[in-house]
Amino acid sequence: MDSVLKQISSVDSEVLAEYKENVMVGGGSPGPCLVSGHGIRVNDLNGNSYIDCTSQSWALYLGHTNKEIQECVYEHMNKLSHVHQGFDSQERASLAHKLASLAPKHLNRVSFTVGGGPAIEAAMKIAMKNVPNAQTFINLWESYHGCTLTTAGASWTSTKSAGKYVGPSNYFLPNLNTNFVRVPNPYCYRCYFDQKCENCNMKCLEMLRHTLDMGAPGRVAGIIVEPIQASGGQIPLPKKYVQGLREICDEYGCLLIFDEIQTYCRCGEFFAANYYDVEPDIIVLGKALGAGFPIAAIIIHDRLKGFDMDAEELHTFANNSVSQVAALKQIEIIERDNLLENTRNVGAKIANGLREMQKTYPEIGDIRQVGLHIGVEMIDPATGAPLDVATAAELKSTAMYKNGLILGTGGYKKHVLKIKPPMITTMEEADEILEKFEATLKMVLRKG
Ligand SMILES: Cc1ncc(COP(=O)(O)O)c(C=O)c1O
Repeated sequence: MDSVLKQISSVDSEVLAEYKENVMVGGGSPGPCLVSGHGIRVNDLNGNSYIDCTSQSWALYLGHTNKEIQECVYEHMNKLSHVHQGFDSQERASLAHKLASLAPKHLNRVSFTVGGGPAIEAAMKIAMKNVPNAQTFINLWESYHGCTLTTAGASWTSTKSAGKYVGPSNYFLPNLNTNFVRVPNPYCYRCYFDQKCENCNMKCLEMLRHTLDMGAPGRVAGIIVEPIQASGGQIPLPKKYVQGLREICDEYGCLLIFDEIQTYCRCGEFFAANYYDVEPDIIVLGKALGAGFPIAAIIIHDRLKGFDMDAEELHTFANNSVSQVAALKQIEIIERDNLLENTRNVGAKIANGLREMQKTYPEIGDIRQVGLHIGVEMIDPATGAPLDVATAAELKSTAMYKNGLILGTGGYKKHVLKIKPPMITTMEEADEILEKFEATLKMVLRKG
């Protein structure tokens, strides 16, 4: 074994505790020390095994340690690794070409960057470049677009979170280049306008129009939305709403920007734009794009001016050929193994299983599923209010430490349990996830 790997693998719990004194972590849900993983499962330092329904920040569509990705990347790394973004590379051109062929018809130019937040900022630059004198952006309540100084201002974490202000609110600089104005999101389960889905007349879209007319300072460059709000509570935007957004952007001359950092492939289509049948002006990608290797991107509409070669968008690691190769290999596997279809089928199976459970557990208030984007909104059945934060946290930790199931939590009140395993999850593994989920509900809610 390589000497460094040998040294790392000798770090036991005691040494870990000592070394951890040197580590500074600024967020995320705490979890055990992971040492290995394969497929949808991971193992910790103490020998416990878990089914990973978070795909580690939703970034591993093919699960842990996919052999084909490894072999392809290893072969490539014998040839080339890091490339300065000014230089051409076959890998970058090939990935851009492939993404353009999968994206909606008029989105054909790709700019790569290093992470989701910077990719959102790249999209904002393109919007400001194309909508003259406009620096304002509109985004939705309960949205999450990153943690950089700019994007934090567009994320729900910079507003009150479960009743208190947390980290990003400390760094919220309202006049840092841009200005985010938020509008109420179409959260149909708890509609902010007291509408019922059956006869909703889209008051949320009306409020967006009012905001464009009267609430947004200066010209609006773009409306940024996650087509399926992820971190904010797994809230899919209704089709009617997304189609309305397109009309409004055309009418007001601002750009429609889809943050597809979490929807890319996971929604059961390559892009949520396809799922909604709406062509945005810019699509933003990140997270799982590189099969676990860091890479992010934006894809822009043909009619837009792109970046110029004058340091408008320049990043050291914006042309990492290793991540690009991994991204391409992942797309090949997704196409070859029909993983989009698998995502739709396995997602539907899990949602059906949850609906069955709902009959026994009225604490399951709402089940929201598109592909393997699954959110379970937990409530107090007596009042319909969000389940209290402590019980929601207990559900998550019991799932992890007693039942070997890593879940995410989301939502303003942290009461939405997120089930988002890798796209390779099988029907049998879906049954296992459901069993572990139900066992958790029984232990925490029925003390069984
Ligand atoms: C929808 C969405 N947009 C943007 C981001 C920010 O991406 P990153 O953490 O890579 O900066 C995230 C990360 O969770 C996200 O979920």
